Amino acid sequence: MSERPTVICHMMVSLDGRIHPSRWTASPDGDRAQWSSLYEQLHDRMKADAWLVGRTTMAEMSKGEAHPPAGAVSVQRPHHFVTRDATTYALALDRSGKLHFAKPDIGGDPVVVLLGHDVPDSHLAELAGDGVSYLVAADETMDVGSMLAVLREELGIERLILEGGGTINGSLLKAGLVDEISLLVAPAIDGADGITGVFDSGAEGLAGSARLSFLSAETLEHGIVHLRYKVEPA
Ligand SMILES: NC(=O)c1ccc[n+]([C@@H]2O[C@H](COP(=O)([O-])OP(=O)(O)OC[C@H]3O[C@@H](n4cnc5c(N)ncnc54)[C@H](OP(=O)(O)O)[C@@H]3O)[C@@H](O)[C@H]2O)c1
Repeated sequence: MSERPTVICHMMVSLDGRIHPSRWTASPDGDRAQWSSLYEQLHDRMKADAWLVGRTTMAEMSKGEAHPPAGAVSVQRPHHFVTRDATTYALALDRSGKLHFAKPDIGGDPVVVLLGHDVPDSHLAELAGDGVSYLVAADETMDVGSMLAVLREELGIERLILEGGGTINGSLLKAGLVDEISLLVAPAIDGADGITGVFDSGAEGLAGSARLSFLSAETLEHGIVHLRYKVEPA
């Protein structure tokens, strides 16, 4: 199998590791807009070739309704790439084909959807008709590492920022697909029960999944601390 891209999980979290800033306590050191702007600045500085989010997070940005074409369709498998020379791609994991797109890019970054093997042709036709690129998994296991390796080979994605939410972060960490964690810790607390954390892996948790070594800690503006850790197999 070819090599996959380097994956950096970059997230903004509260002191209790939660990822929904709208729920957090306030701080005289800075507000959510300032924290988000710092997050985006660091994102840009990483000079990644793509960013990747889970289906739920992408649904907050894609904003489309289902509109499969009527009648028989002819589609390409396993992949359909509308463009191969983008500076940055917007990737989403969507096993069942639940995402629909109002436009083919997010903030100018062309979308590529990573789909499960059983996604119907009608959904692929909808994406292609909307100018959205896709890659279909080789089999039912939906091996994300292999799919990322295909994207590296086909689109030249060498460096990828994983940007949540907690479910995709947890599943990729568990699968050994995260190389570095970059956390912006905000001076805020969530505190509520049952709220997703930055790495969510259900009842099993992530014990034994990885070994983290400290890389750096930097105090930034607006009360933010930037922590970086290298991730290696356990
Ligand atoms: N603070 C921050 O920096 C930050 C960043 C990003 C997001 N967020 C917030 O996080 C929330 C969403 O987080 P979330 O954990 O609920 O959802 P999520 O991680 O965005 O998406 C989860 C979904 O992605 C798919 N998925 C994830 N891992 C997969 C894998 N290994 N293989 C195949 N499919 C996979 C599954 O879709 P299916 O169920 O369809 O199979 C899964 O249910 C949003 O409210 C968003 O605003 C915060």
